[in-house]
Amino acid sequence: MKKPVSELSKSQAQAELESLAAELLRHDEAYHGGDQPEISDAQYDALRRRNLEIEQAFPELQREDSPSRRVGFVALDKFEKHQHAVPMLSLDNAFTDQDVYDFAARIRRFLKLGGDEKLNLTGEPKIDGLSLSLRYENGRLVSAATRGDGTTGENVTANARTVTDIPSVLSGEDVPEILEVRGEVYMTHEAFAQLNARMEAEGKPKYVNPRNTAAGSLRQLDSSITAKRPLRFFAYAWGEVSNLPAPTQTGVLNKFKQWGFSVNPLTGVFDDIEVLIAHYHTIEEERSFLGYDIDGVVYKVDELALQERLGFVSRSPRWAIAHKFPAEKAWSVLEAIEIQVGRTGALTPVARLQPVTVGGVVVTNATLHNEDYIAGIGNNGELLREGRDLREGDHVLIQRAGDVIPQILDVNLEKRSSSSVPFDFPSICPVCSSNAVREVNEKSGKRDSVSRCTGGLICSAQAVERLKHFVSRNAFDIDGLGAKQVEAFHNQGLIANAVDIFVLRQRDEASSTKIKDRGGWGETSARKLFDAIDERRTIDFHRLIFALGIRHVGEQTAKDLARSYGDIAGFSNAMAKIADDDEEAWQELTAIDGIGETVAEALRSFFSEPHNLQVYDALCQEVTPKPVEQVANTSPVSGKTIVFTGSLEQMTRDEAKAMAERLGAKVAGSVSKKTDLVVAGPGAGSKMKKAVELGIDTLDEDGWFTLIGR
Ligand code: IVH
Repeated sequence: MKKPVSELSKSQAQAELESLAAELLRHDEAYHGGDQPEISDAQYDALRRRNLEIEQAFPELQREDSPSRRVGFVALDKFEKHQHAVPMLSLDNAFTDQDVYDFAARIRRFLKLGGDEKLNLTGEPKIDGLSLSLRYENGRLVSAATRGDGTTGENVTANARTVTDIPSVLSGEDVPEILEVRGEVYMTHEAFAQLNARMEAEGKPKYVNPRNTAAGSLRQLDSSITAKRPLRFFAYAWGEVSNLPAPTQTGVLNKFKQWGFSVNPLTGVFDDIEVLIAHYHTIEEERSFLGYDIDGVVYKVDELALQERLGFVSRSPRWAIAHKFPAEKAWSVLEAIEIQVGRTGALTPVARLQPVTVGGVVVTNATLHNEDYIAGIGNNGELLREGRDLREGDHVLIQRAGDVIPQILDVNLEKRSSSSVPFDFPSICPVCSSNAVREVNEKSGKRDSVSRCTGGLICSAQAVERLKHFVSRNAFDIDGLGAKQVEAFHNQGLIANAVDIFVLRQRDEASSTKIKDRGGWGETSARKLFDAIDERRTIDFHRLIFALGIRHVGEQTAKDLARSYGDIAGFSNAMAKIADDDEEAWQELTAIDGIGETVAEALRSFFSEPHNLQVYDALCQEVTPKPVEQVANTSPVSGKTIVFTGSLEQMTRDEAKAMAERLGAKVAGSVSKKTDLVVAGPGAGSKMKKAVELGIDTLDEDGWFTLIGR
């Protein structure tokens, strides 16, 4: 048995590194020479890991001929993209105990669980690191990828191999042929402190916090650098698995442990919410002794069959939630209030703060939401800070919760200077000088809390923000063309709207001042940019809809629209009719589940504007959106439009919808000529009547389950 690395003296470490270098060299040569290996892969991995661990503890002892410098550690140009076999999702948040009760109640309602039926929930720390998906085939690590946008991440396999806790070969029994293990990469406080001590000794700038350092370390192109930054990994979830080893979350985690992963020891399973919340508080109390950062507790439904039934909403599972720890607070000085103009013309005030550390992060900006918020009034007219408006120069209380933009909660009037004056919210746009107005909602008669620039197409701030949105991660996501670059190109007159992006190469070829000759660009980067743009000429249909930046059309709405209209021709046709006030098209649009009057109005307004249409049409010439893939074209309802009505008894409405969508169907809220099937529970009224009138197929719940083979 070898000594733990922490007990090695320096000379012992040096001697062991020497013998490891020789031993690993012998094995590598034997392997590359095609000889019969002397040791198993697992033994080989163990040697490499031992070598790494010693080097991480004694970085100054790393040998010139170290195995970690030699094999496998080849610096890359850039990371390959990695398509996740199963998307990597995020979690909804709970901030209060009540949110947790609501979460459990939602699940019970969805599943129609009676009050006396047990619901087991797991509780485990939410690690503040970055998620990683590890793919094993026949027990061997074949790839490791970051989350990226959830669908496509970056292939960081070489780096993952340097992480303690990530086995290259799995041990133990019944390892599935295909196994994607997901979890969090993090850095311990100790490792972080050691790294910073080293930086200080070398006169280099120190790292800010363990999380960013872990993220930066995992994304090193040269994995010998990653190897010097001791990273750890907790397994807590999975992606594609050919054969799930247990029927519960905890059962699978136990298998993970047997196969060689670290699973967080504070994971528990509870059938009583109060006890679950008590577990949250226990973890909160232990927080500062854990030796790594956590920012809450994650609850998950333990029973996998129930997880399956619960499914997902947008990007988060219905069966899990993150109960966050209370936000951290600190006092600072509000140095200035600046106004930013957004894509839809909204004037958003931003607080510039004297830098202050809140929860380990230096905060210099905070959101101020709108005019009322500065005055101390909330969105619903409630008083936030009676008699305490926010003024430049004020001492203010900042709150930072997780990744959320910091907020200003309060102001200290005792420290307010006698010369301070209330903030004068501008009534003209600071960028284009058009009037800025607070619209009055026709229906409610209420004044909107947001002040908007009326400059529309002439406002360059709006144009830039629209472009930034167009290239953002969930829209066109063009490599090398981020927010900064589009802004620069816009300012240089190269890009005025989205279409210009796609004619950039053509124009550049004809131009005398080429992009490659501009500051920060070169021949290769310019060529790569043009190639990256071309790569995006084919794009998921919903991304195109989202990229248009139509008010109220977020990612989920874009997906609902794409799924419902199927392809660009269907969508364009419908939108042309909507702009023409066509009643039938309007009915069809508002019947889509998830599309209400507000969204429909926003679409009408967007597609009635000639300039928008011109850009949209030109864009459709440049790009080819992919029609929505039918999820399961083997399913008997795939591609069909279904309406559920009446009081369903064997499933809730949400569950019915989720089930139908998983099978590739569209779910509508009202019956029209386009409806293919109506599933009716007892008490179905007008929708059923209309279905019969229109000669649409109808089924009861039993019929539905028979149809889909359950
Ligand atoms: S479960 C489908 N469990 O939190 C559910 N996530 O805010 C997958 N995270 O992207 C996530 N600790 O990076 C889960 N114990 C834990 C976690 C955890 C940290 C991260 C993860 C996820 C993010 C969502």
